[in-house]
Amino acid sequence: MNYQNLLIDVKDNVAVVTINRPDKLNSLNMLTMDELFGAFTWIKSNGNIAVVVLTGKGEKAFVAGADIAELNTLDIIKGREFSERGQQIFNLIENLDKPVIAAVNGFALGGGCELSLACHIRLASANAKFGQPEVNLGIIPGYGGTQRLTRLVNSGRAMELILTGDMIDANEAFRIGLVNHVYPLSELMDKALEMANKIAAKAQQAIRLAVKSVNIVDEVSSKEGQIYEAAMFALCCGTEDFQEGTKAFLEKRKPLFKNK
Ligand code: COA
Repeated sequence: MNYQNLLIDVKDNVAVVTINRPDKLNSLNMLTMDELFGAFTWIKSNGNIAVVVLTGKGEKAFVAGADIAELNTLDIIKGREFSERGQQIFNLIENLDKPVIAAVNGFALGGGCELSLACHIRLASANAKFGQPEVNLGIIPGYGGTQRLTRLVNSGRAMELILTGDMIDANEAFRIGLVNHVYPLSELMDKALEMANKIAAKAQQAIRLAVKSVNIVDEVSSKEGQIYEAAMFALCCGTEDFQEGTKAFLEKRKPLFKNK
């Protein structure tokens, strides 16, 4: 598949998706958004891909937000469509039952911070900066950021970021639970690929059902979530990989998963 603003590299069941618009700090214009939708739709149905790493091209930015030149053309009607389309694309990423790891290699601002929030795990380079500067433009986050950020880091911290438009550095993002780990920029991709390959080596049906079970936490009550968890657990018990995983442990050997 040919993309103008994305690079996709698949190796050993891990896809690396790179947003490739470094001259505009990888900001998300509509073409890039459409390509993200196309790429993640393709990844969803591609049986050879188990885990995704999402990053930005260059050493300066993951994604510096929505393309402000395009934002400038919105009116009330187009603004709603713009927000709903972005939400749809980021929901596709969040609801993908294959883990998506954001390797945040620089600025993650506005839609870039929101994109990282739609990923399942966030790793950051030491030079990364996070922020929701939309208020500086007279708007609010519109790609799910008001919801995801608030759920992830609590309402006081989310309010502060969204209302002040201030940027925080990677260490502060780590301190407030926005990212899992911070690495030197030169090590970020190796660490992201190491984690991706570790996850890709597990029984993939269990991985997918785990992602679904964790993701449902914001949709349902704890009681309903536990009912769902029991159903997903039961599905795991019906897989060949479950038989193999438990047998291998008892036989003191490494399991050979077939993803069946
Ligand atoms: N949309 C469109 N273009 C953007 C952009 C965005 N969100 N962010 C950066 N760019 C472009 C700049 O216009 C510039 O293009 P040019 O060289 O054609 O003039 C290029 O990317 C480099 O950015 P520049 O501002 O020169 O880099 P910097 O190092 O001085 O500043 C930032 C970096 C991230 C602080 C600054 O680019 C910025 O504030 N960007 C906007 C962030 C934002 O508000 N995002 C939320 C949008 S909802």
